[in-house]
Amino acid sequence: MELSFVYAVCRKGSEPFLKAEMAQRHGDRFVPAFMRPQLVTWKASAPLPGDFCPGFSFARNWGFSLGLVPELGAIGKRWSERMGDAGGGPARWDVYPRQVPDEGVASEVWADLMQMRDQLPVVGDNPWIGEVIAGAPDEPMLLGARPLAGLGPVSLGGIARVTLPPDSPSRAWLKVEQALAWAGWDQEAFWLGKTALELGSAPGGISLALVRRGLQVEAIDPAPMHPSVLVETGPGGAKVHHRQQPIGSLNRESWVRPVDLLVSDMNLAPPAVIRYLERLQPCVRAPRWIVTLKLNDAMMVSRLPDFRERLGRTAPAPLRVVQLAANRQEVTVIAG
Ligand SMILES: C[S@@+](CC[C@H](N)C(=O)[O-])C[C@H]1O[C@@H](n2cnc3c(N)ncnc32)[C@H](O)[C@@H]1O
Repeated sequence: MELSFVYAVCRKGSEPFLKAEMAQRHGDRFVPAFMRPQLVTWKASAPLPGDFCPGFSFARNWGFSLGLVPELGAIGKRWSERMGDAGGGPARWDVYPRQVPDEGVASEVWADLMQMRDQLPVVGDNPWIGEVIAGAPDEPMLLGARPLAGLGPVSLGGIARVTLPPDSPSRAWLKVEQALAWAGWDQEAFWLGKTALELGSAPGGISLALVRRGLQVEAIDPAPMHPSVLVETGPGGAKVHHRQQPIGSLNRESWVRPVDLLVSDMNLAPPAVIRYLERLQPCVRAPRWIVTLKLNDAMMVSRLPDFRERLGRTAPAPLRVVQLAANRQEVTVIAG
């Protein structure tokens, strides 16, 4: 088995950020090899260990590229040539589209891809996930492998199968639902009877998603919440309680208790967000975090490795930074 190529999938327009991240983190060890919208591959100067981690923040998913294949029938042979025959096929096949719109992938597209998956060779007991990234119908597919035990997404290709409900007061609903799916925290009843603290909650798309999953939400924002969110009752009687104040003006001792999920979606620069999280986490001891970091300028993008390092000292482990389909000039930290 020789792993010498890496691929990553990302939001449309984030390809240059991915390339810059690879160069910043790994210097000239990697040379960009092939690029299509939302897909970048690199060749490594020497074979990579199976536990290599590029440390991307702008990818939705990444893996080791086994090259382009013209048709489904060629996949089995390519897999055994590149991965060896031990264990047979991969533990499972993840088949997903290369191009993902912000609001998600249409159900007809998924139906075609699931049909493709049914035609793939049988799975084995290999400790790898086989990935097939499909572009336009006449375009070769990219065949990839990522470790089954790695820290990658639980959802196929890191893509959530959700659509924004018409009654959500903001698009932020999509961001949190996509993050939950990415992490595999989206099963029904996963959050029933649990508690969440959300910083930067107005007008309330995220709070709405959380309360509908059965979380009691303490929502903090000086701006008003949409009234419909405050009257929503979720499973188990879950409600959203809004404190209409900035987080800095609240006296933590008087109200902060342990919570199951800490969410932050404040439109503040990452250093300010991180300072608030550092102060809060010792009190709320949240085992899971979903935090958006707004990257409004090149300076903030270049400081991402520092932000990751700092968050790693406070956030629950493991820490992943991803850019989800619904994230615009921002990335999502998924921790715990
Ligand atoms: C992107 S919006 C949040 C969207 C929201 N999460 C939703 O689901 O609809 C950013 C919010 O951060 C809030 N914000 C900014 N600074 C804050 C602070 N110091 N404390 C609490 N909220 C803050 C703003 O008032 C704004 O409503």
